[in-house]
Amino acid sequence: MLKIAVFNFKGGTGKSTSALNLGAVLAQFGIKTLAIDLDGQRTLSFGLGVEGLEPTAYQWLTSPTQNTPTDTSLKHLAVLPGDIKMFQLGSSNEDIFASPLKGLIPLKYQVVLMDCPPGLGVASVQAILNSDRVLVPTLCEPAALKGLSEAIDLIRGENQNLPIDVLRNRYKPRLVLTRESDDLLISSAEDLNYRLLHTTIPDNIQVAEAIAQQQPVITYASKSAGAVAYKSLGKELIKIWGLKS
Ligand SMILES: Nc1ncnc2c1ncn2[C@@H]1O[C@H](COP(=O)(O)OP(=O)(O)OP(=O)(O)O)[C@@H](O)[C@H]1O
Ligand SMILES: [Mg+2]
Repeated sequence: MLKIAVFNFKGGTGKSTSALNLGAVLAQFGIKTLAIDLDGQRTLSFGLGVEGLEPTAYQWLTSPTQNTPTDTSLKHLAVLPGDIKMFQLGSSNEDIFASPLKGLIPLKYQVVLMDCPPGLGVASVQAILNSDRVLVPTLCEPAALKGLSEAIDLIRGENQNLPIDVLRNRYKPRLVLTRESDDLLISSAEDLNYRLLHTTIPDNIQVAEAIAQQQPVITYASKSAGAVAYKSLGKELIKIWGLKS
């Protein structure tokens, strides 16, 4: 069971969009996947049409033995929806994730994607501490890249050796700004010790529309640039993460 925290300190970089769509793509490739919505904003849950469904991630964290994930309408994809109570986790240093995550092992998920809220609250810290890798979606703009190096410092502060995969989202290849950002991302990959993923996710209206229609983009608009990109991302990560589809 490979545990992935989808994290960036900065808001609005596509954490929830990527966790949701990557989860759907991995499931479509036959990989048993669980998506956990750790954000009280519940974007991932809304986008999968499971907002309000129980047990929630909060219920699972606080009573793991009584609360197991729910299967979604997509084969091989299960979910623990978000809960506004996540904001009540407070500032405890206690590891509240280790035991609930251990309890999932008999359910034989191959991948667990944990969609973190922005910032570095309890849920994000715990998800990072309990994950095998971190996926960091970023925008290719100067302000976002500053946020990226801060996010990487924060992850390294929690776990020095955690592998980090950086995903360029809302990618606009024609902009000079994007090319400059690319140069910076490539040159700092070695210094900051992260992998810059080959696949980029374009800025694509169908990706945003799919969330509004409460569907992954691969079912909402399977031929759109966004759907094609998420399928490539799935293939790339299956290789890097060593998954068996
Ligand atoms: N590739 C894309 N193309 C077009 N729109 C996108 C794309 N990725 C994300 N968006 C849009 O950008 C907004 C932010 O995305 P999302 O909610 O996934 O970010 P987030 O990092 O999870 O935000 P938060 O930090 O608030 O949790 C959403 O409105 C989403 O629809
Ligand atoms: Mg989000």
